[in-house]
Amino acid sequence: MKRRPYVLLAELTYGCPLHCPYCSNPVSSSAESELDLEEWTRVFREAAQLGVLHVGLSGGEPLSRRDLNEIISAAHDSRLYTNLITSGLGLDFARARDLRASGLDSIQISFQADEAVLGDSIAGARAHQHKLEAAAAVTRAGLPLSLNVVLHRHNIGRLPALLLLAESLGAQRLELANVQFYGWAWLNRKSLLPTRDQAQAAFAVAESAKERLAGRMEVVYVLPDYFERRPKPCMQGWGERYLTINPIGQVLPCPNATTIAGLQFENVRHHSLENIWNESASFNRFRGEEWMPLPCRECPERHLDFGGCRCQAALLTGDPAATDPVCSLSPHHLTLQNAVVEETRDLKTSFGMARQNPVAQTSRPDSTSTISKSILYPLRDQNLSSRT
Ligand code: SF4
Ligand code: FES
Repeated sequence: MKRRPYVLLAELTYGCPLHCPYCSNPVSSSAESELDLEEWTRVFREAAQLGVLHVGLSGGEPLSRRDLNEIISAAHDSRLYTNLITSGLGLDFARARDLRASGLDSIQISFQADEAVLGDSIAGARAHQHKLEAAAAVTRAGLPLSLNVVLHRHNIGRLPALLLLAESLGAQRLELANVQFYGWAWLNRKSLLPTRDQAQAAFAVAESAKERLAGRMEVVYVLPDYFERRPKPCMQGWGERYLTINPIGQVLPCPNATTIAGLQFENVRHHSLENIWNESASFNRFRGEEWMPLPCRECPERHLDFGGCRCQAALLTGDPAATDPVCSLSPHHLTLQNAVVEETRDLKTSFGMARQNPVAQTSRPDSTSTISKSILYPLRDQNLSSRT
């Protein structure tokens, strides 16, 4: 059967008013301009022709695009289900209503914590109160609301309060996603990594919440895989179901794929999406099983986890084709376990982590940006942010 992508993550901009220490933006900036409305319109049409059903509109902060309504309309006109993935900053009732009128199907708002002091400290900006107001605006506008919380050492102990927050805001879905260590999170691993005890306690809370809230709110718990004995089936296999297009038009088999040294990524400005999906070297590099080393190549579980995560293997071993060290059968598993013990021995409580405001570092058309961190959301405490 021919492979087809089901989900497209459309990263509309690198610009963002927050400074999360696990930011998904790249750690180095690009001088390329961001895709414009015409380019996104073509991309959505080609994605739908390829078989994509669902598009996540993300960033950075997608609300900072002045042409977001038109972008949503373009995706909607291509019959794609549209989900806006946002910090909530810049979202009020009028904007939520307009986005819905443009064809938006649902909104996911990220929260850093259940309360303002901790939440704003993690975000590196006054954000929590805006998020509460944005969540209320979403439900008032009649859009399904989903909450996402990235979990790490500083907030993983607050799961009961996070669950209460999601319930009180009327969320239909709560994603509790343990931080995955790539990019900025990789740089800040020592400050973010939870302890094994924290991870086990959180798992128990999440499992009981899933049962208690079944039928009312979907609770999704993304495991902290450093504590597992088998890796996650990352992306459901490289180049099998998902594709990401970053703000400058590179098409990626995984949102973190640019962290893998040596891979070149094709650009929608120069090739069709169909050509990139089917023919590009980057999408074919880790497809199927041919590329697998031992022990994966002969392992009966290779159809379940696809050998784990390529980005993680590259970061932890230097070889993107290696067995994911999370797997207890990997020759690097013990090294990872020892690193986890070492890095959680002396717990830091401060947020003295590397952060970045990508707005200032990325070249893009002036017309697309409406949010400037320094104008709307100044840092509450400069000591919270040690930029790199
Ligand atoms: Fe998965 Fe490879 Fe480990 Fe087998 S050896 S469980 S395929 S990562
Ligand atoms: Fe890139 Fe897993 S995060 S393959």
